[in-house]
Amino acid sequence: MVSHGATVRSTHALRRRYLGATLRPGPFAGRSLAPMGFGRGGKGGIGLEPIPLDTAAVTSSPAPAPDFAHPALDALIRHRQDFPALQRGHYFNYGGQGPMAEVALAALADAHRQIQTMGPFSNAVNQWIREELTRTRQAMAEELGTTANTLTLTEDVTVGCNIPLWGMPWQAGDHILLSDCEHPGVIATVQEIGRRYGVTHSTCPLMATVNGGDPVAVIDQALRPNSRLLVISHIFWNTGQVLPLKAIVDLCHQRANPVRVLVDAAQSVGVLPLDLPALGVDFYAFTGHKWWCGPAGLGGLYVTPAALEVIHPTFLGWRSITTDAAGHPTGWQPNGQRFEVATSDYALQAGLRAALAHQAAWGTAEARYQRILHLSQRLWHHLSQMPHLCPVRQTPPDSGLVSFWVLQDGEPSPTHHRQLVETLEAEGTFLRTLQSPNCVRACVHYLTLESEVDALADRLRALA
Ligand SMILES: Cc1ncc(COP(=O)(O)O)c(C=O)c1O
Repeated sequence: MVSHGATVRSTHALRRRYLGATLRPGPFAGRSLAPMGFGRGGKGGIGLEPIPLDTAAVTSSPAPAPDFAHPALDALIRHRQDFPALQRGHYFNYGGQGPMAEVALAALADAHRQIQTMGPFSNAVNQWIREELTRTRQAMAEELGTTANTLTLTEDVTVGCNIPLWGMPWQAGDHILLSDCEHPGVIATVQEIGRRYGVTHSTCPLMATVNGGDPVAVIDQALRPNSRLLVISHIFWNTGQVLPLKAIVDLCHQRANPVRVLVDAAQSVGVLPLDLPALGVDFYAFTGHKWWCGPAGLGGLYVTPAALEVIHPTFLGWRSITTDAAGHPTGWQPNGQRFEVATSDYALQAGLRAALAHQAAWGTAEARYQRILHLSQRLWHHLSQMPHLCPVRQTPPDSGLVSFWVLQDGEPSPTHHRQLVETLEAEGTFLRTLQSPNCVRACVHYLTLESEVDALADRLRALA
């Protein structure tokens, strides 16, 4: 890659330009940005080299938080050895998909074998499958502070969002409010609902509040008298911002015409310690395959008992309904099961429960979140000290997602973002680009090692 001349530019102005709205001057405002030159002075990849186990190995930019204690580090290293994906490189794409532990892979394979051994279709296997579904709803409920009857097993986050989106009793003229940081699949669903039912929608500018401002006030201003639903992520997948969900829900519910709240929880389940009833949210759609490190294809939807009475199933099948003695449909299941449809890959259930048990064996949800914060803040501090990079956030992160710009002549360079991700992936270090804002995203998990964060920082420094 080729670089051009150095430019002095305020990162404050940069963030304002690329995130919008009004920002407070940041600690790095007015710093000098050096040129970027991938491929020059390459110092070799970090990808497949052994990961140093010395957590004190922060090189030129010490992180503020204390290093993880060594006995705990030993335990983590043993724990990590169960993940094939973590043996071959440095993984920073947890927000895309989490790696699976051998114990989860084995549970998946065992469940398939069990189904084949018992049936695959028999009274015994059908009973076992029903128990598996119950056990999985129960395991998810314990993670989310709720009860199994509030949960629907889904395939992924997007299906979980589609259930309330299509299930609401829409009337022409209703309004849906989204944030400007929602996932394209969810936006597309809202657009199609608008086309079919004459429902309007608008977006409110929350991306800029990552560096100041009040998301609750922004939402308050954007809600309309005819607003029926707010669609919002708990953690933004692009900036990593954690939204004040309880305050947002309270605002929506206290309006003269209460607004229901659908939360895209793709980046919050498995990151934040959660108590969904305490948050008061109506709908919370999540997946097992990201931060929970479960198999792809199994997620869930939380619906409060009050909201359950409002939405209707769009897809129905034998799992959604009750039947009479002749097998004829008599109604819907009295709980979240009414949104489950028919035959699924039931072996996924055991895989996800094994993944959850494996995480819990390492530490509580609170301990995992604290470690994620320690690591993401360490990475953010490293990035903040590199003149050719600019973290999207002006202040240390409050989630595991760390987004940053690669600067060329003081401006974010989409070309450099793509080249950086490709260069690192060739070396066995996995990050991703994002389009809005155009940047690079690195995710840290409690499974991440301090030495991996430092090695990534070293590599990014060497690429300047
Ligand atoms: C915020 C957000 N929503 C939705 C999705 C889509 O997730 P899924 O494939 O589980 O539907 C993602 C995936 O990265 C995401 O980050």
